[in-house]
Amino acid sequence: MTKITAAITAVGKYVPEYVLTNQELETMVDTNDEWITTRTGIKERRVLKEKGLGTSYLAIKSAEDLIQKSNIDPKEIDLVIVGTATPDLHVAATAAYVASEIGAVNAFGYDLQAACSSFLYGMSTAASYIESGRYKKVLLIGADKMSSIIDYKDRATCIIFGDGAGAALFEPNYEGLGLQDEYLRSDGVGRDFLRIEAGGSMMPTTEETVAGKKHFVYQEGKTVFKYAVSNMSSVAEKIMQRNNLTEQDVQWLVAHQANKRIIEATANRVGVSSEKVMMNIQKYGNTTSGTLPLLLADYESQLKKGDNLVFAAFGGGFTWGAAFVKWAYNS
Ligand code: UT7
Repeated sequence: MTKITAAITAVGKYVPEYVLTNQELETMVDTNDEWITTRTGIKERRVLKEKGLGTSYLAIKSAEDLIQKSNIDPKEIDLVIVGTATPDLHVAATAAYVASEIGAVNAFGYDLQAACSSFLYGMSTAASYIESGRYKKVLLIGADKMSSIIDYKDRATCIIFGDGAGAALFEPNYEGLGLQDEYLRSDGVGRDFLRIEAGGSMMPTTEETVAGKKHFVYQEGKTVFKYAVSNMSSVAEKIMQRNNLTEQDVQWLVAHQANKRIIEATANRVGVSSEKVMMNIQKYGNTTSGTLPLLLADYESQLKKGDNLVFAAFGGGFTWGAAFVKWAYNS
């Protein structure tokens, strides 16, 4: 019997219209365009300003983009997974609402939370369902409304994050294309360095937690930076080594967009030259679960069937990992 592999067969994206530039941030906190650009590579990011709209809005729009471009019938989708650190609501799965809204009436849906690694981990989940033969169409969305958990008076975090979403459809492939290998890691040591302290089960919301600004993202940037550089580059190196990939064999490095310097350090470590490194951090900042699928959507027209893609991500938890994908179509 021919082996089933899991391939991405369509992608879609959505970013909100409002552009928050470095210049506007200069009027909000003590920062400047030069510092932000040299330390992070970010020039602007998108913010979902409309009241009452949450992460599901971004996710739905990205899924609708994919459906419209690929012409698939949403009724054929078996499963919708939303990777997100900013669900619409506690308890109610964002993906269940997204599935209903896009007309995926025969699908079930659930959320997957692994901070900035949510989409990468979700690729493993989506691919496993396909490889096992259990489902035929799995829609994986990475979406985050980071502006809902950012303190726009804290210059250490507000310059970094943005809102956005990307979607990818996973289907069976019989030519050996799609996900080839993955190496996923986590280490609980990380939760002291990147987290939201209150609002979870450990510290439920009180007047004091709100007054103490404990519902915003806290990040010890320098420490996270060091872990990110060393771990992201070592998993990227490992996935290349164990699949016998040299830098010539790799067409694209698809790395989480947290900081241009982290992406460049990873590319240097594995010897992949800059023209093969997907980069859109300058436009969107760090969209957490959204970065990897937004890259795929932005670079889709340049991808060719058979291209070797190395994915790498690092995020809160800590969670991190790498994957090797053979791209499955020409657009
Ligand atoms: O996606 C999840 C994983 N997250 C990451 O991978 C993020 C990892 N961390 C980073 O990307 C970087 O650590 C940051 C971009 C967050 C910060 O860059 P840094 O080079 O590590 O700067 P720093 O925090 O060490 O701060 C250096 C200086 C400090 O001033 P002093 O103490 O040297 O006088 C900060 O107070 O820069 C100051 N600073 C700023 N200055 C202007 C910090 N934030 C700003 C700012 N504008 N926005």
